[in-house]
Amino acid sequence: MDRVQSLESSGTGRGDLSPKHCISVRYESAESVRRVIGYGRYPLAFDANDRNPTLNIPMAMWIRRAWRRTGSPLVCAVGNGLYSTGLGYGPKEKTGELMATESLVPATERKEATERRKTQTFFPQMSFEQETNPWDAQEARFDYAAKKLNLDDGTWKLLRYPAREIIVHIPVMMDDGHLEVFTGYRVQHSISRGPCKGGVRYSPDVSLDEVRALASWMTWKCAVVNIPFGGAKGGIICDPHKMSQGELERMTRRYTAELMEFIGPEKDVPAPDMGTNEQTMAWMMDTYSMHMRQTVTSVVTGKPVELGGSRGRLEATGRGISIVCDHALEHLGMAVSGCRVIVQGFGNVGSNAAKLLFDKGYSIIGIIEVDGGLANPHGIDIHALLRHRAEAGTIVGFAGAEPADPAKLLTRECEILIPAATENVITSRNAAGLRCRILCEGANGPTTIVADQILAEKQIFILPDILANAGGVTASYFEWVQDRMGYFWNEAEVNRRLNLIMTESFQDVISYAKAHKVNNRIAAYMLAVDRVAYTTKQRGMYA
Ligand SMILES: NC(=O)c1ccc[n+]([C@@H]2O[C@H](COP(=O)([O-])OP(=O)(O)OC[C@H]3O[C@@H](n4cnc5c(N)ncnc54)[C@H](O)[C@@H]3O)[C@@H](O)[C@H]2O)c1
Repeated sequence: MDRVQSLESSGTGRGDLSPKHCISVRYESAESVRRVIGYGRYPLAFDANDRNPTLNIPMAMWIRRAWRRTGSPLVCAVGNGLYSTGLGYGPKEKTGELMATESLVPATERKEATERRKTQTFFPQMSFEQETNPWDAQEARFDYAAKKLNLDDGTWKLLRYPAREIIVHIPVMMDDGHLEVFTGYRVQHSISRGPCKGGVRYSPDVSLDEVRALASWMTWKCAVVNIPFGGAKGGIICDPHKMSQGELERMTRRYTAELMEFIGPEKDVPAPDMGTNEQTMAWMMDTYSMHMRQTVTSVVTGKPVELGGSRGRLEATGRGISIVCDHALEHLGMAVSGCRVIVQGFGNVGSNAAKLLFDKGYSIIGIIEVDGGLANPHGIDIHALLRHRAEAGTIVGFAGAEPADPAKLLTRECEILIPAATENVITSRNAAGLRCRILCEGANGPTTIVADQILAEKQIFILPDILANAGGVTASYFEWVQDRMGYFWNEAEVNRRLNLIMTESFQDVISYAKAHKVNNRIAAYMLAVDRVAYTTKQRGMYA
């Protein structure tokens, strides 16, 4: 068998690609392709003779994009439908004596790569595209923490990649009578410490890399707050704002039905994320229950309270943020009085964090939203702003503050900056301009790894996402517990327990940072990776 079939551009669908873009290999078994994807020097594999089934763009375009991102040639698995099983990679099983990957990455080179990885300094040089790729960011931080922990090579490889990646194509009958097909994902990173846990995101920007990164972050986040879950994440490429309730319901129900074997209270427990809400969870729970022929409330969290949701869940992420901010001030010897806060994103996380901090006496001097910013050096009355937003549907036009440029507001002087909107808002392009003492990450992945280095030089105290926004998944854990015992706590009890866990987790991360002489983010990753690696080894390897 030819190991490397050709170094030339051949086959259809590849347009003007050259060998620098891709290397064709003939793959002989599903196993060989699985080994190629994301492992070693050649990051991806695909069937070049088609359109990318998830993005529905010509493969040539996708290859070029990926090449620009990774800067290395891609392995191109030609011959038969790489995506034919619908699971992303899984050509029809064949038995093959020789693995394409083995010929592409000889043992000596693999060893060298491992050595390189072990000695690399804090994060490699990267393009802006790489810097803002959430998977690359997650991977680089994980690698660094694993290196600091001296993690053995096998566990390193095991924890670096998700355990399972599911791609589904969801047919939905639209209101105008035409049939649309949406692409959805569910990535399960780890079940070492318990069932998978993670939100479902509806957005036009959803990608497999993003869902992978978010799934891994969930594993680390659950481990930081020491709750018995592994990590998962799901998403559908769609624009929920352009869809009717009926269309959203049909899409959600079909997505849930496609995932029936993979989700469940003991397997994987979804929750809301960007673009999804309590109603989405109610539909998911009902669909799952219909298939099970019984009501199974604990299959999802973030449900309405009347359907087995937990009191306090809606505010929990913001509440967790307010708790770690209190502890950070105490740790740094700063006072609440006169503490100026700027919040980016006035959605669930941002508005609740702002409201709870305002109630505690913090001065919220700036709010940043997609359609504009608000500033008031004397502090914004958050309750009045919430009332305005409820009436006007936007924060713009609020009389209690001046309009402000969102980009400039992000770099305005303050004690605490809370990015609570989306990923990659603090990058190599603006990190140097930040003038906050504390960066408290409400969103997942708001800071890129290059920005991290700049912030470290500026000695900004970071409350990393996997700690700062873990109040949400902690309350989700409470919801799952309450559903399973059929007994529900009052809100004070939920908040009391949340306070205990967030306080303990903050202290764990700070102690870890001190003991290992690393910054808070690396400490949080190290703590999490350490905990997951420990249970992984305790359980041992099956087969
Ligand atoms: N909801 C939770 O419990 C929870 C828990 C943990 C982490 N998170 C993370 O927090 C972030 C926000 O989640 P959410 O539930 O509040 O979502 P949301 O949709 O309720 O709110 C997000 C808000 O941010 C605004 N926004 C988006 N992009 C922006 C930008 N570039 N600049 C300024 N504003 C922008 C949106 O207009 C919206 O108001 C996400 O990264 C999410 O993954 C959420």
